[in-house]
Amino acid sequence: GRVLLAYSGGLDTSCILKWLIQDGYEVMAYIANLGQDEDFEAARAKALKVGATKVFVEDLREEFVRELIFPAVQANAIYENIYLLGTSLARPIIARKQIEIAKNENCTHVAHGCTGKGNDQVRFELAYLTLAPDIKVIAPWRLPEFYKRFPGRQDLLKFAEENGIPVSQSPSKPWSTDDNLYHISYEAGILEDPNVTPLRDMWRLTVDPEDAPDTPEFINLTFQNGIPSRVQNEADNTDISAPLDLFVYLNNAACRNGIGRLDIVENRFIGIKSRGCYETPAGTIMRVAHIDIEGLVMDREVRAYRDEHVSLQYGKVLYNGMYFSPEGQLLKNIVSLTQTHVNGTVRLKLYKGNVIVIGRWSDTEKLYDMEESSMDVQGGFEPIDSEGFIRIQSIRLKKFGKENKF
Ligand code: ARG
Ligand code: SIN
Repeated sequence: GRVLLAYSGGLDTSCILKWLIQDGYEVMAYIANLGQDEDFEAARAKALKVGATKVFVEDLREEFVRELIFPAVQANAIYENIYLLGTSLARPIIARKQIEIAKNENCTHVAHGCTGKGNDQVRFELAYLTLAPDIKVIAPWRLPEFYKRFPGRQDLLKFAEENGIPVSQSPSKPWSTDDNLYHISYEAGILEDPNVTPLRDMWRLTVDPEDAPDTPEFINLTFQNGIPSRVQNEADNTDISAPLDLFVYLNNAACRNGIGRLDIVENRFIGIKSRGCYETPAGTIMRVAHIDIEGLVMDREVRAYRDEHVSLQYGKVLYNGMYFSPEGQLLKNIVSLTQTHVNGTVRLKLYKGNVIVIGRWSDTEKLYDMEESSMDVQGGFEPIDSEGFIRIQSIRLKKFGKENKF
């Protein structure tokens, strides 16, 4: 058979590539560029050297931002109240292109290097099977003949040496990472003890908030239909609207101000608890700003419906690898319907790890009426009407009050 392997350029997937060849497969390698810190041409060369018959390097950054990241911002999607889903969001994009190439190249199999204990195996394979119901999946880390042969990193290193697989010179860190343009995750190794504090130099993206500049930075972030559409910063003459450029600007602004670090214990889909540390710089800014602008422009009941029935569910769908599913697509469509009036600009102060909202306005949305909301102005509203409103609301409370002591 012919396999398309999701290849990272690292030790694991390089050994998997070679092992599949030795097992009799023709192997093609697929490298997805989602903005991770990687030398893609070096990875391509390495895959060819190890024996891939073809290598595909695909730049998926723009579709990652437009199709997964921005809708997640619109939804205020979050997992267990804190994780911004940086790894989960990347998986549908990676899997879809892998299947597209596998079909074009008449591959019978696809393969990945995820472990058998994690979320990623589930996310990749559910996506594969939705998009190509007949494709066969090889997950070496779940095959006894593979994981028994390579019980530890030393065994992989030995195999690499015996088979002429180049090993990177940088010493391996006592944790593992997964990064893309949206975030980086750190887990495993010394982080498995949930009470071990991450080393100061673990964090790769953001400066330590304590080392961030003593003077704040001010930016304006504009939303159109709930999607970040423009970022402005008078201090450095920034005025950007192109999605990827805008995103990268926010990322850099957040990183230099120490914004976006997290350290959590989460529940994986398969039922195991896992401690992870994350940096989601731009994601943190966008979330704060988006929630704020919704306060100004969104109808109360639409917002409540979205919060109660959509945000949590959409986060869960993404986390559990169900983006390509009936409920995943339904929720994504509902999210977009809730955002038709989410138009306006939020003024933000970025300062030592904090995203502070300092004002907001909308040129088009008129739900907020200054006269109506004012405590100083009479107008548009008869205060005497509130009396009846309270009296009616109190009918049942009076009965409840008579029967109970508090
Ligand atoms: N726990 C996070 C998630 O499930 C991060 C996973 C990191 N993935 C990885 N292959 N290292 O989304
Ligand atoms: C893995 O198991 O490959 C990484 C962790 C995860 O997917 O949750």
